Amino acid sequence: MKRILSGIQPTGSINLGTYLGSVKNFVKLQDKMPDYEFFIFIADLHAITIHKDKQFLRKKIKELAALYVACGLDPEKVNLFIQSEVPAHSQMQYILQCNAYMGELERMTQFKDKAKKQEKGVTVGLFSYPTLMAADILIYDPDYVPVGKDQKQHLELTRDIANRVNNKYNDIFTVPEPLIAEIGAKIQSLTDPTMKMSKSDPNDKSRIDMLDPENIIKKRIKSAMTDSIGTIKYDPENRPGISNLLTIYSVITNMSFKDIEKKYEGIGYKDFKEDLGEIVYQELKPIQERFNNLINSEELDDILDKGRDRANQVASIKVNKLMDRVGLGRKRR
Ligand code: TYM
Repeated sequence: MKRILSGIQPTGSINLGTYLGSVKNFVKLQDKMPDYEFFIFIADLHAITIHKDKQFLRKKIKELAALYVACGLDPEKVNLFIQSEVPAHSQMQYILQCNAYMGELERMTQFKDKAKKQEKGVTVGLFSYPTLMAADILIYDPDYVPVGKDQKQHLELTRDIANRVNNKYNDIFTVPEPLIAEIGAKIQSLTDPTMKMSKSDPNDKSRIDMLDPENIIKKRIKSAMTDSIGTIKYDPENRPGISNLLTIYSVITNMSFKDIEKKYEGIGYKDFKEDLGEIVYQELKPIQERFNNLINSEELDDILDKGRDRANQVASIKVNKLMDRVGLGRKRR
């Protein structure tokens, strides 16, 4: 069976960017591609590349699991699991690290951006992060990896590592393709539309979190940065603010930019933002209701146990196979 895999870090609350750029896409794919086996995980090992308080991390792992399901991921169709509960990811990472070069990791833009912000020094984990991501992916032989635009470079590195290891060890990995949505793959910050909406942005006003209450959702949209032109037109180069809001509108309603522009001809930002605030709220409200029912339920643990068991089954076979090809330990098969 062909496979699709993706993950999200439990570093903060999921925001509208992560939801529209990735989770909403997973939900569409699970229904559109029933012939594929899905692996969607909580990338908790990635979250500790920058120190996190223990209680905070545990809470965020659980919240992300509940949000995945609340957003519509169907545990019958998707193996949902926590990365650290599948030890083969770390084993695989080590072998891949021995097949990755310092120079290529130093070129990763996300590493450069994050490293700049570290006051207490940059951990080796932050540096080698893309090799863990490559391990997460290659261990399951997925054909497709749905991600937002910011992960494209990591996917390219994963493909390079896969080809390198395939050449050395006789075609062991499927070389995966990124699956990047045409619209919504990069939702921008509400306060600086030239930057990505990010859970690590210290300015809360820059984003909408999935669990934000109605008044905050509407306030954030109302105060989103636009420009002084005042017309509703998609022009990301010259008018990134209004274009970002149009993107959010389009991904949620499935309306094309042209149709939205036509609908708001002669109408100003105030009314457009009021409508968009309501649209975002109506999208998040049922998700929040499902989240509240799930967060303390046993159902969530059962889903994660089932996902963990299936992931371990697939991953341990793969890592053992690679260890054999490399010549590690005694022959297992
Ligand atoms: P993370 O946790 O930063 O983001 C999760 C997913 O959401 C997408 N995304 C966005 N899309 C559109 N607009 C935005 N503003 C926005 N912000 C985030 C990201 O592109 C991503 O798809 N390293 C990964 C997690 C990971 C992973 C993997 C993903 C670990 N291993 C293996 C795929 C396969 C990360 O930090 O994503």
